[in-house]
Amino acid sequence: MASGEFQPLQGMSDIHAPEIYLWRMIEERSRKLFNCYDYEELRTPVLEKVSVYQRSLGDTTDVVKKEMYSFKPSKHELAMRPEGTAGTIRYLAGRGEEGLNARVFYIAPMFRYERPQAGRKRQFHQVGVEATGEPNPLADAECIALQQQLLEEWGLTGSKIQINSRGTKEDQILISDNLRGLLEEHRGNLCDDCQRRMDENVLRVIDCKNEKCKAIVATLPEMRSFMTQESQDYLHTVIETLGQMGVEVEYDRSLVRGLDYYVHTVWEITHGALGAQNAIAGGGRYEIALGKKAIPGVGFAMGMERVITSLEACGITAEQFAPKGGLWLVSLGDEALAENMKFARELRGKGLRCGMELTAKSMKAQMRKANRAGAKKVIIRGEDEIAKGTAIIKDMEEGSQEEVNLSDLAEMLSRP
Ligand code: HAM
Repeated sequence: MASGEFQPLQGMSDIHAPEIYLWRMIEERSRKLFNCYDYEELRTPVLEKVSVYQRSLGDTTDVVKKEMYSFKPSKHELAMRPEGTAGTIRYLAGRGEEGLNARVFYIAPMFRYERPQAGRKRQFHQVGVEATGEPNPLADAECIALQQQLLEEWGLTGSKIQINSRGTKEDQILISDNLRGLLEEHRGNLCDDCQRRMDENVLRVIDCKNEKCKAIVATLPEMRSFMTQESQDYLHTVIETLGQMGVEVEYDRSLVRGLDYYVHTVWEITHGALGAQNAIAGGGRYEIALGKKAIPGVGFAMGMERVITSLEACGITAEQFAPKGGLWLVSLGDEALAENMKFARELRGKGLRCGMELTAKSMKAQMRKANRAGAKKVIIRGEDEIAKGTAIIKDMEEGSQEEVNLSDLAEMLSRP
């Protein structure tokens, strides 16, 4: 690990080999599956106006109130992206009709000024999707099914999907009024945060982790009991559709999610290998009004760092995805070195992984380097071989070697 001045900032990491191969596996398999579901990639800028987040995530959410890296270089206050949904909707809102029925995905770094701890970083990465369109329980079910299939593609087992509904915006007013009424007599026994939440955002009292608050919440009726029948049926259809698709989910009455844009379905995926920060993903249906018109959609985001910790706990390691084998060119003398520069270019042009020393070194030193690089085959050329138009090819696993014509070699090496 780097020490002192060479360490990255607290809560941020350098992502390097061999771990990077696990990251690349996740990214490559995600892109492939997103293509099968007809999602297009979107890359929004890291910086957005703070108002984009205030108007979508909500003024009183922890992310907006406490966790944004924001600054004001000129007229507008800007923030580094703390999540991907708001910027995506900002982009789609500018696309007119097309933006109202779009399917996009992103794989991108996010920034939240949180207290770093296991599983909680200040720069982390999300794989996420957003599908805009009018509320439709089948769209929510498809989104959850896609997420579950992603986990399968990555090879992750042992995760659990929890689901709930927050109802429509109108339901939420009713739920909030009722909760506030019921909680009033318990106000003095709630934690300080929840006393504040009662006035600001009473729904958040429901998922408070404080034991005293949890005990009080357990005595209250479920949120869905305050919703219209239509909203209850909506959630029922999502769960039923998922059941028909073979995707197992668990109803969780205390799941609320910490962002204000959600309506109807909300869900989270947790993994047993993680500690207190055990959510590998969160998602839900939302309505975001950045302009005059609210844009409805559904989506999710998966935290890559937490997914990787969970994969490793399942015995899936980066080494399994590291590039293996390859060729190594050994040059004996300056003439061979110059010739091998040309030959390496030709081999690389054929898509072969190929390394060589770029200064004259002894045969022993070059073979040592070939070994360290894990080369499967070494090609040795000196003055004699150059003069004859040949090369010696050595199989590093079998230890055998033979002299071959250079004209046949490139073709021979490209064979699988
Ligand atoms: P979120 O629950 O805030 O939702 O984040 C989604 C996931 O990102 C979390 O489940 C977690 O795995 C990861 N994550 C969040 N904060 C951190 C952190 N500080 N360190 C490491 N990982 C973290 C959203 O961001 C929504 N935009 C999801 C969404 C998309 N809803 C609809 N569409």
